[in-house]
Amino acid sequence: CGIVAYLGNQEAYPLIIKGLKRLEYRGYDSTGVSVHQDGQLQIFKKVGKVAELENSLAGKSLKSTIGIGHTRWATHGEPNDINAHPHFSSSKQLSIIHNGIIENYNALKKELISKGYSFVSETDTEVLITFIEDIKTHNNLSLEAAVRQALFTIEGAYAIVIMDQDNPDQLIAARKGSPMVLGIGKEEYFVASDATPIIEYTDEVVYLNDEEIAVINRDGFKITSIENEELTPYIQKVELELDEIEKGGYEHFMLKEIFEQPNSIADSMRGRLDAKNSKITLGGIREYADALTEANRIIIIACGTSWHSGLVAEYLFEEFCRIPVEVEYASEFRYRNPVINKGDVVIAISQSGETADTLAAIELAKSRGAIILGVVNVVGSSISRASHEGAYLHTGPEIGVASTKAFTGQLSVLIMIILSVAVRKKTITDARLKELLTDLACIPDKIRKVLASNDKIEYIASLFKDARNFLYLGRGYNFPVALEGALKLKEISYIHAEGYPAAEMKHGPIALIDEEMPVVVIATRDSSYDKIVSNIQEVKARKGIVIAVVTEGDVLIPKMADYVIEVPKCDEALMPLVSVVPLQLLSYHIAIMRGCNVDQPRNLAKSVTVE
Ligand code: G6P
Repeated sequence: CGIVAYLGNQEAYPLIIKGLKRLEYRGYDSTGVSVHQDGQLQIFKKVGKVAELENSLAGKSLKSTIGIGHTRWATHGEPNDINAHPHFSSSKQLSIIHNGIIENYNALKKELISKGYSFVSETDTEVLITFIEDIKTHNNLSLEAAVRQALFTIEGAYAIVIMDQDNPDQLIAARKGSPMVLGIGKEEYFVASDATPIIEYTDEVVYLNDEEIAVINRDGFKITSIENEELTPYIQKVELELDEIEKGGYEHFMLKEIFEQPNSIADSMRGRLDAKNSKITLGGIREYADALTEANRIIIIACGTSWHSGLVAEYLFEEFCRIPVEVEYASEFRYRNPVINKGDVVIAISQSGETADTLAAIELAKSRGAIILGVVNVVGSSISRASHEGAYLHTGPEIGVASTKAFTGQLSVLIMIILSVAVRKKTITDARLKELLTDLACIPDKIRKVLASNDKIEYIASLFKDARNFLYLGRGYNFPVALEGALKLKEISYIHAEGYPAAEMKHGPIALIDEEMPVVVIATRDSSYDKIVSNIQEVKARKGIVIAVVTEGDVLIPKMADYVIEVPKCDEALMPLVSVVPLQLLSYHIAIMRGCNVDQPRNLAKSVTVE
């Protein structure tokens, strides 16, 4: 989501609208603004892009020199006018914009309802602002003190800005885990998710750190820690161009999204994974949790990258839940006469939630009585609506056409679904569960380590940028990773690449191998390690060039392979989350060196809404 707030001498509304348009790349399913007019806080909001709100307010005079605005990417509650931000507190004394997720909002909501409060939206944000209001009125506190107290109690991530009807000269902002920057102009202040809405007015900014609160008045601002220690603000000059800021300082959205993965995976697990207590909570799969646990068979339907995460899920479901799984290309499934029996559960995986083939396959399965669970990124999308229940990825908008962070987000969500089924079915021991969940919680750090090898991967890319063909090999959990690595390379560099199960190589692709053929082998330490070592030897015996992805500390493969990329040790069931990352980077760098448009490769679309 994107947030913008203004306090100064100019009209806030047009300035906020302009700022929100600059932030639309962060999410765009609904838009809203709150201003202080005629002595009251007012909120205008609308599902859709910023321009739709603007059109609906055309001709209306909004006079206010303070205001907050939001462009939303839904996480709780589908995108509609009511769930759009800003939100009022119960008495409409306060309004708020919020990025992030309040994990314990359900408990807070229950408590507030028992005190007599009611809510109009389904959002965690409305709960937060009402919670703040409750603290403020009951303890007779200033808004600042009430915000501070509330932030002590809430769990999760937030970047918030709050306005108070009784004080049209003050904004209160705070952050934890969601970005926020304060712009300092001449007698005017800006708050935004990044500097894009700010830089045309001022280049002086303060980046707020986690658990800091900014109190902004017309004559100055102060920053305090959540414990109320006053901090000296570090005022910086923004030197980036607009386009660079949108991409978070990265050259392309794809690279930004690859580097975002430690955070986006943490977001996908936020509030769901409790490794310490060996617990997984998936709020979106309740009514059908039994059906899933007791399923005779699971059919996974998806396209493209999402189909690859489905393949990983197949291995995991069989290993941990002992449920047979079929992974189907949606386009094939929908035109067959598929056999669907009672007790079959369909899982549809889709980043966009709009892929036409996947949607049609769901409708077909539904018409034959199947239960549909969606694993989708875009909240409120067609596939999420067509599913009976499901789990969202919560990885934020993915803009690069080649899917990266959505793939790892899908894996993380699928693993949580699978392990919670295993717990219910009692097909996993407590010790094994604990081991996996502890490792899962460490995945963001492990990916950080892989990202630190970026320069090395770029160097390897420079050696193979002119190759005409690539082969990708993997076994077990890393076989779908080989397919995904090959797909990434094809999509953005236009080099022909094939992914294969390493042992299948001898039944065909081995004929292609010569001294010009780069072969990427994902050969991390797992139960098929010895086998894949033999496959590497087979490639070397035909003079192929081996680029191996290995577990750190491996001493054997580096002696055989031409190039190695190390990834941290990891449970083999979780390895795809980590081993795919170097392959994403490899294809990115090769594509860049070939002068390709990585964010919008030729002939491809982010969301394929036609057959
Ligand atoms: C398109 C995109 C791919 C994506 C596939 C499935 O082909 O270019 O990146 O994997 O659609 O999309 P979905 O949104 O259903 O995951």
